[in-house]
Amino acid sequence: MFAKFNWVATLCVSLAAFATAQASQSPFTSPIVKTTHRISADASLASITSEQQYTALTHPRFPHHQVRVKKSSFCDPTVNVYTGYLDVDAGAKHLFFYFFESRRDPAKDDVMMWINGGPGCSSAMGLLMELGPCSIDMNNTSKNGTTWNPHAWNNEANIFFLDQPVGVGFSYADFGESIETTEDAAKNVHAFITIFFETFNQFSGRPLHLSGESYGGRYLPSFASYIYDQNQIAKAEGRATLNLQSVLIGNGITDISTLYPGRYEVECGSSSLDVPFQSIATCVQMKIALPRCVDMMDRNCVQHFDSIDCRAAVDFCNSQLSTGYWASGRNPYDISKMCVGDSLCYAENTAISHFLDLPETRQLLGVETPENFTPCASDVGRGFNLHMDKYAVPAQYYVTGLLERGIRVLIYAGTYDWQCNWVANKLWVDKLEWAGKDLYAATTWQDWTVNSAKAGETKTSGPLTFVTIRGAGHMEAFAMVSRWLGGRAI
Ligand SMILES: *[C@@H]1O[C@H](CO)[C@@H](O)[C@H](O)[C@H]1NC(C)=O
Ligand SMILES: *[C@@H]1O[C@H](CO)[C@@H](O)[C@H](O)[C@H]1NC(C)=O
Ligand SMILES: *[C@@H]1O[C@H](CO)[C@@H](O)[C@H](O)[C@H]1NC(C)=O
Repeated sequence: MFAKFNWVATLCVSLAAFATAQASQSPFTSPIVKTTHRISADASLASITSEQQYTALTHPRFPHHQVRVKKSSFCDPTVNVYTGYLDVDAGAKHLFFYFFESRRDPAKDDVMMWINGGPGCSSAMGLLMELGPCSIDMNNTSKNGTTWNPHAWNNEANIFFLDQPVGVGFSYADFGESIETTEDAAKNVHAFITIFFETFNQFSGRPLHLSGESYGGRYLPSFASYIYDQNQIAKAEGRATLNLQSVLIGNGITDISTLYPGRYEVECGSSSLDVPFQSIATCVQMKIALPRCVDMMDRNCVQHFDSIDCRAAVDFCNSQLSTGYWASGRNPYDISKMCVGDSLCYAENTAISHFLDLPETRQLLGVETPENFTPCASDVGRGFNLHMDKYAVPAQYYVTGLLERGIRVLIYAGTYDWQCNWVANKLWVDKLEWAGKDLYAATTWQDWTVNSAKAGETKTSGPLTFVTIRGAGHMEAFAMVSRWLGGRAI
């Protein structure tokens, strides 16, 4: 269950007449958590001891930003946990984060960022359903609402979960400012990470990895490229750089040209299930529409982006190639399951929203926005959709740029996902234009194993690795990440 939220494509927009009113409350008068101020050029997280109030840290180089952070006993009692806000853009936008120290060696382990997709979905979803230190308790077995996750990615890395862009999860803006393109979002993410590393200088120089899923396939290549380019400027000016090492994308959407051929394969071919689940009649219909869909998208979205014609192409593809899946009633993120719960198809979503909105949870986290928690913010999704952000900039070009500058890229995909499926990912990675393309093509697929059981297949060439994960194994996903961080073969 990797790629859960692909807001625009899931038509989840029908979910909500979402209240667009943003927080009007100033964080400094918020009754929820008091803030004490400290000017500090170099703080350490260990000096933050209060769970009751935020310590606000400012940095002379970033006069328009501050970090407010507090300790928290949320989620993982075995490590130090911090939550807080980074106030960016003259303090008007507040980006919420959860930070978990590594369970192994926080003073030496790498730093990782996790974001969910959407656009508009909260990183709390990945945190509490997939790779975070704790999982939402679905069985009423725990008193605190969560259960400890032995396969969490903070087993071997310091990890922060960021609610971005502003308006997502517990992030909020004072005056209704919004972010509506990935390239704009990149600037705030870069500011966030830079200030985090500059403020808590115990991390300075530490290897940094950016990870995420679904729309993260569009976000992360852009974010990483922005960070890389800003690093060159910083270097030229003699400033500290971020030690960006790699990007990890799970069931992402990156090169849109392969999305629909991939969906056809997953539904009507044998690439995910041995016997296709879709009806023959629907498969024939899809097969007939596919070349036209691919051609329209190629001409109007890829070769030459025109927002009106591209939208017409996408509408055609969706009506001809996605309707059959919705009619099947299956979960678009896991074809082995039926859709349950709300329109995001997981019962966990409702439980997570309920849990995160409990007054005691909000207190524990230091949440300051008066808005209720929404797994995916529909107004954020709408803003990105308005700009056709998914199609306007081919994200694969960023991947090329990163690979050719030595940034490692891991593309992984659970084989049961339909929404951003593994076949679509394999197809775009195969045709990705980069210096190592021929070598990658000549490399053979290999099985990879966890505890001597086959976990999927993989292929690596230079900085690029592709991994499939059978089904939706969390243990397997952690094993993969552990090997990736350690620079070992998957
Ligand atoms: C909760 O119950 C489900 C099914 O009943 C089970 O698969 C799962 O492992 C349980 N989780 C916990 C944390 O006990
Ligand atoms: C857990 O408890 C809540 C309220 O006490 C109840 O509504 C829910 O059905 C219970 N869930 C399970 C899986 O027992
Ligand atoms: C919550 O309770 C579970 C046991 O039900 C425990 O394993 C876990 O560590 C607790 N989490 C926190 C944050 O105390």
